[in-house]
Amino acid sequence: MDPIQFFDLKTQAKRLRADIDRRIAAVLDHGAYIGGPEVGELETRLAAFTGARECVAVASGTDALLIAIMGEGVGPGDAVFLPAFTYNATANAILIAGGTPVFVDVERETANLDPADLERRIAATLAEGRLRPRMVIPVDLYGLPADYAAINAIAARHGMVVLADAAQSLGGRLGNRSVGALAEMSATSFYPTKTLGGYGDGGAVFTDDPARAARWRSIRWHGTDEMKRESIRVGVNGRLDSLQCAVLLSKLEIFAEELASRRRLAARYAEQLDGLVERPKGAAEADSAYGLFTIYVKNRDQVQAVLKAKGVPTSIYYLQALHHHAAFAAHAPAGGLPVAERLADEVLSLPFHPYLSDTQLDHVCAALRESL
Ligand SMILES: Cc1ncc(COP(=O)(O)O)c(C=O)c1O
Repeated sequence: MDPIQFFDLKTQAKRLRADIDRRIAAVLDHGAYIGGPEVGELETRLAAFTGARECVAVASGTDALLIAIMGEGVGPGDAVFLPAFTYNATANAILIAGGTPVFVDVERETANLDPADLERRIAATLAEGRLRPRMVIPVDLYGLPADYAAINAIAARHGMVVLADAAQSLGGRLGNRSVGALAEMSATSFYPTKTLGGYGDGGAVFTDDPARAARWRSIRWHGTDEMKRESIRVGVNGRLDSLQCAVLLSKLEIFAEELASRRRLAARYAEQLDGLVERPKGAAEADSAYGLFTIYVKNRDQVQAVLKAKGVPTSIYYLQALHHHAAFAAHAPAGGLPVAERLADEVLSLPFHPYLSDTQLDHVCAALRESL
């Protein structure tokens, strides 16, 4: 058995090498390194893949969030609700735009934003009267879509817009709708280890609203008008370069096949581990993209050490709930967020990528059984 890797980017690189070399050569030949034809081609392909009308490719998943938040004019005095158990980028984007993050607890069953706690935090924000509820950013943690039916309805009732942080979930589905088309706006990441990862940083924003997409295209290019002559709003350098789009176009060719492999491997993990360990799961219609395969264990340090000794690398997403990070502690709610805090002590992600062999996966399960 080959050594087990937590992520494996090299097998895919080997598989696609000739095609990627050809596409990179094409970019070097035409010389439009920024704003080349690959950008529009990737946007068209991704819009078709997700079912969203518009896709705007940007420089990172963080820029995708930031540009979508800036596009709504969020600023001082605006409350933006987000789960307390996510990557720091979700909170950073809100704060960079000048909004105020309001942390919401998550559900243990899904590890995603808890709609009931969202209702409570909105009510508390309104009662306090200091901030205006403006936006909700649910996160599809580990690839599992959040409860958009409930969250979209709550947001609509309060006149708020929903921005899905789909950095980990591109390829997931909820019923017959794909990630990218589950909320008014969605942001994803092409960080190399994501379900669709590039060879560097990248991201994209999705919407059905052409006016929003036009604003995002302006913001990603320093806030300029369509002719790029005048700054008509404040913007950033948030472009995705042609080379990165060329790489992603190649990877898109095998994306559906890789997602199928992720789903098959996740089912194999589930078959051997369900009943043995708890893990986040969605409702029947939720189809995770399985960006990560994560379990909950109470004696995590011990389990991790035993697995390591047996050649099984693991990782923790995330060690701390966001309101416990120094940078965000000023926004920690009184009384804490108990579910998020407990998950931070218990989550453990197992080796997971489309090229994991059945033998390797079975070895992980056997080692885990012994460690427990
Ligand atoms: C939930 C979540 N949001 C946002 C991001 C930010 O994406 P990026 O690293 O591409 O800026 C990531 C990934 O790193 C993420 O996991």
